[in-house]
Amino acid sequence: MAILRWLSRAPATPLILLSNREPYVHQRGPGGEVLVSRPAGGLTSALQPVMAAAGGTWIAWGHGSADFDVTDIGDTIGLPPEAPSYRLRRMRLSAEEVVGYYLETANRALWPLCHAQLPRFVYDAASWLAYRRVNERFAAAAIAEAKGRPATCWVQDYHLALVPGVLRRVRHLFVHQFWHIPWPAPDILRVLPNARALVRGLLGNHLLGFQTGLDVRNFLDSARRMFRDAVVEPARGLVRYRGRRTHVREFPISIDVATFAAQARAPETEAHARELRRRMVPAGGQLLLGVDRVDYTKGIPRRFAAFARLLAEHPELHGRVTLLQVGVPTRTDVPEYSAFEQEVADIAAEVNARFGRDGWLPVELVRESLDQATLTAYYRAADVCIVSPLQDGMNLVAKEYVACQQGRMGILVLSRFAGAARQLKEALLINPYDVGATAEALYRALTLPAEERERRSMALHHRVERHTIHDWMGDIFAEVDRLRPRT
Ligand code: UDP
Ligand code: G6P
Repeated sequence: MAILRWLSRAPATPLILLSNREPYVHQRGPGGEVLVSRPAGGLTSALQPVMAAAGGTWIAWGHGSADFDVTDIGDTIGLPPEAPSYRLRRMRLSAEEVVGYYLETANRALWPLCHAQLPRFVYDAASWLAYRRVNERFAAAAIAEAKGRPATCWVQDYHLALVPGVLRRVRHLFVHQFWHIPWPAPDILRVLPNARALVRGLLGNHLLGFQTGLDVRNFLDSARRMFRDAVVEPARGLVRYRGRRTHVREFPISIDVATFAAQARAPETEAHARELRRRMVPAGGQLLLGVDRVDYTKGIPRRFAAFARLLAEHPELHGRVTLLQVGVPTRTDVPEYSAFEQEVADIAAEVNARFGRDGWLPVELVRESLDQATLTAYYRAADVCIVSPLQDGMNLVAKEYVACQQGRMGILVLSRFAGAARQLKEALLINPYDVGATAEALYRALTLPAEERERRSMALHHRVERHTIHDWMGDIFAEVDRLRPRT
């Protein structure tokens, strides 16, 4: 069993995971009742099953309206709710901290920078100070959790880049970090005034993981160019800087394939998928699916433009194909996002006004977050899933769609600029900036001969099955195991 393989290598010392986003949110419902939900986003989707199996403490920002009504005196709660196996320690952040650390620095500076979206990059020096302060608070919480004993601290993503620098000063802690999003080329990184501090923070890690080999190379290159006194050994994935060693590795993240596969085979999922198709596609028609947070990196406007091009060039498809787009509102307090959500809705409305007719809406936009069971039914119902980010660390939706096929032959159209494209080679790969070529790929996906559909779909399925979230954990813990005795 894959879980047993990595659990047997799990550190003997307590595991302390740190991320900005929490795995469960508690909120007050309309009648004052407490509702619990799971946020959309790859980080929490991937790590929740891992922590449920490994146990330990997860430290994250508590932002739900009822989050602190359900925690104990130390701000912790046992999770998952149905069978608690780890503790979540919720951090209380002030409104100013949230603005400077999360909204401004993480989401207006680091996110666009790492996704090479420089026109969206906004930098503010005072916010950077808030980012640093909040990182120090997260680090202090981890140190308190370790209670002076050896522990493995596992830091997640771009919100917490300065945490490792603080933790590394505590000798009994092993520090590693996984960077879920792309790492930019050094020339892009220079745009950030605090780039050196960012890289120095990450060099606090004993082990630093990225999604792809390209991210690893870009990071090593950044460290080499920024610090004359750093010794970088690309062949060994090693940076030596001021007496510290940081091992840099590629660990492509994956999904809990067995859970998705079981959900996909459940009779109620089948029934829901059938009902969806009845509602969305006229008899004999086909269903295209997109599932994203409404983030400007996901390439949604160009996807809609490609779909419009497809309809313009192939009138025979009118009334026979529907694009179902799940667009989860995200980071709506960040100006770039609130405006963008409206833009996406407007473009969908334009396509519908141009091509729609009685009984057929070409683009169905679902502007809410769906739970995993509902999403699985959507994956089962769709003939084609289009994942077309301009840049993406991995993209778990692509893997989830493949895992849910289970005897169906769904076709994946996938951006070359998603980390997932490095593994899912039998997808129809596209350059999302090329709207015409994307329209052609959609047409090809809709008209692929059954034999080729089957060949591609089976090959993708095997690839996803061979490398699940548990294999990812196994690879990481094996490396931790190998490195820890020397640190
Ligand atoms: N997701 C969800 N509900 C939705 C839409 C998405 O739970 O309505 C989940 C989806 O299943 C996936 C994650 O959000 O696990 C999105 O991860 P991905 O890596 O594709 O992109 P990210 O949002 O992390 O950039
Ligand atoms: C990406 C990031 C995660 C983040 C998620 C959702 O997957 O890598 O760190 O949690 O997006 O974004 P949010 O800002 O809502 O946490």
